Amino acid sequence: MNMHPPSLPAVGVVGATGYTGLEVLRLLRRHAGVQVRFATSEGSAGEASALPGLSLVSSATVSLEGIELVFLCLPHGKALEWAERAHAADVRVVDLTADHRPGSGRQEGWVYGMVDLAPERIAGARRVANPGCYPTGVQVAIHPLRTRGMISDGAPVVINAASGVTGAGRTPKRELLFAEVASDYRAYALGNAHRHLLEMREGLPGLPLVFQPHLLPLARGILETMYLPMRDAVDAASVRAVWREVFEDSATVSVTDGSPTLAEVARTDRLVLGAADNAGIPGLVTVIASFDNLGKGAAGQAVQNMNLMLGLDPVLGLRC
Ligand SMILES: NC(=O)c1ccc[n+]([C@@H]2O[C@H](COP(=O)([O-])OP(=O)(O)OC[C@H]3O[C@@H](n4cnc5c(N)ncnc54)[C@H](OP(=O)(O)O)[C@@H]3O)[C@@H](O)[C@H]2O)c1
Repeated sequence: MNMHPPSLPAVGVVGATGYTGLEVLRLLRRHAGVQVRFATSEGSAGEASALPGLSLVSSATVSLEGIELVFLCLPHGKALEWAERAHAADVRVVDLTADHRPGSGRQEGWVYGMVDLAPERIAGARRVANPGCYPTGVQVAIHPLRTRGMISDGAPVVINAASGVTGAGRTPKRELLFAEVASDYRAYALGNAHRHLLEMREGLPGLPLVFQPHLLPLARGILETMYLPMRDAVDAASVRAVWREVFEDSATVSVTDGSPTLAEVARTDRLVLGAADNAGIPGLVTVIASFDNLGKGAAGQAVQNMNLMLGLDPVLGLRC
């Protein structure tokens, strides 16, 4: 049962049966600052949602009267209509799809919701494009170093990334069957072809990126290993020092002297950064980011964006 008092801001979740929609609902269930008014599904309307006492409804039957904000947890390309509908009703939006992110060509009028890098732009925003999972770790790690001129120009930054299978969404696909994925490990989108590159390039303009994703035989989690050519032989200790300064007040980003793991971030909304020098190759620093693709990489950041947009405590309801 949705037990919150009716005076709390009302929100809705569109696409509430997918992996990110389910995770948003899980977070909102324990969120003390908002109440969930509706959760949509086109295929399962009438069935129970992940929130006790709340049934799934089809989009066509939803009223936006009195709604403060909607989360769009739809497949890539399907958020446009709902975004227009919310805009016309003067309802705030956090869009988890790539439809309004940098690189989409449709970002005008939208704020990019990279909460750890530009929270001041998000506070009070009405339309926020929630960052992609892979671009979150890459930009949180590299952006502070890039803006301080620590990365050398010209040489490519190589990013080896791996994601658990929920990163591909809940729609059944043959190549994601257990028998295909279990005990395997493979690269995909070979040749710098992943669509998240557009978003990363806009966030890190001018930096030549080589991005190679892999499919991990785990349900959730992203680990990104980045090889950074540094200026003036900048080393791992100075990289960690900059991160610690930038993320000093962050409850969701932390820096380790060791190696970030997936186990420590599973089912949390945290992101852990680590850095190491490479013996015999001064000036090349290996940087690692670990986080949960459905937590910090999607729903955690989306709820953090909502908190900022509604003027709530930024980490209310998050698993820090
Ligand atoms: N998975 C991740 O790790 C992750 C991370 C960051 C961002 N994202 C992005 O977040 C979005 C959602 O991802 P997801 O993994 O949650 O996807 P998903 O598991 O495939 O879920 C998609 C949701 O949209 C509904 N839906 C499907 N087709 C629809 C259509 N034509 N019209 C309206 N609703 C439709 C689905 O259920 P019904 O059939 O019940 O309506 C479901 O509730 C995607 O754009 C994805 O790129 C995903």
